[in-house]
Amino acid sequence: MPKNASLLDRREAAGRIRLCHGDLHLRNICVLDGEPRLFDCIEFNDQIATVDVLYDLAFLLMDLWHRGFPQFANLVMNRYLDDADDEDGFVLLPFFMAVRAAVRAHVTATQVEEGSRDSAKLIAEARSYFQLAKTLLTETPPRLAAIGGLSGSGKTTVAEALAPRIGTPPGARIVESDRIRKAMHGVPAETRLPDKAYRPGVSERVYRQLAWLSELILAEGGSVVADAVFDKPEDRDRIERAASGANVPFAGFWLAADPSVLWRRVSERKGGPSDATVDILSRQLQRDAGALTWRKIEADRKVAEIAAEMAASIGGIAPSEVSVRKKTGS
Ligand SMILES: Nc1ncnc2c1ncn2[C@@H]1O[C@H](COP(=O)(O)OP(=O)(O)OP(=O)(O)O)[C@@H](O)[C@H]1O
Ligand SMILES: [Mg+2]
Repeated sequence: MPKNASLLDRREAAGRIRLCHGDLHLRNICVLDGEPRLFDCIEFNDQIATVDVLYDLAFLLMDLWHRGFPQFANLVMNRYLDDADDEDGFVLLPFFMAVRAAVRAHVTATQVEEGSRDSAKLIAEARSYFQLAKTLLTETPPRLAAIGGLSGSGKTTVAEALAPRIGTPPGARIVESDRIRKAMHGVPAETRLPDKAYRPGVSERVYRQLAWLSELILAEGGSVVADAVFDKPEDRDRIERAASGANVPFAGFWLAADPSVLWRRVSERKGGPSDATVDILSRQLQRDAGALTWRKIEADRKVAEIAAEMAASIGGIAPSEVSVRKKTGS
């Protein structure tokens, strides 16, 4: 049976194939009253617009990646999956994006054949879509990168810069303790939780869920970036076991910076899923994180530099390779 066939069938049985937008690329999205709005969906043929919901999303992801915005593609994918309860479909995204890219290559090449003006530009464009489709079909072995460190060390910021560079586009799934904790309590990621949501018993459940979800994704062949403080040895052990359980290489990073840097960043931070305050940071600073075997990374540097160091150490994609469009110069 072809790869993915049984997963695609299971998704159909689970109701993941629905009447969707059908044409969800960037030219069909605008910002209206501060909110993104989708328009110009396929209305003339319900059959064409009835697809796997992630195939619908894949058009937007492919378009973002092809236009040279890998970080946005990765962010859209992660935010969508955070909300959609659709983790098993993550590993299908490169395939769905490949189909979208191949169709764009075909449509663009047809325009050249039909004698469109500007054929040199169109030929380059068709080739770049085709190249992207080939890249998307090239399997990358899964890996797990865990980023730990005290609040303000930049774990979430760095995770978002690193994830597009790991695995096949759209990059790694980010599993973040703060988002898991908010989801567990049934509140949006940016809603503050009361202190009782941070009791040790709750935190243990959060870390367990984080490891469980990571292993599930890794076992299916997807790559993961795990983002949590990880200041307890047992939490670090648990995420390492998620990698070994799925037989996937593990890389642990510990972001370290002077307390004054952490202090400033936490006090100046606006928005985001973390509820950490300077009080919480003070408590973290007093705790002993135990013996650290993870690679220590100086956090008081440019985000891109930190992500590049991490990506290089785990065999991620070089920045020049992240975008096909940039590479082909089209
Ligand atoms: N390398 C960096 N250079 C400058 N500012 C940074 C850097 N990394 C992160 N920041 C900023 O510092 C603040 C804290 O970063 P971030 O939220 O990523 O930290 P965190 O480690 O995830 O914290 P928490 O444990 O609370 O989730 C943010 O406002 C972020 O924009
Ligand atoms: Mg964070």
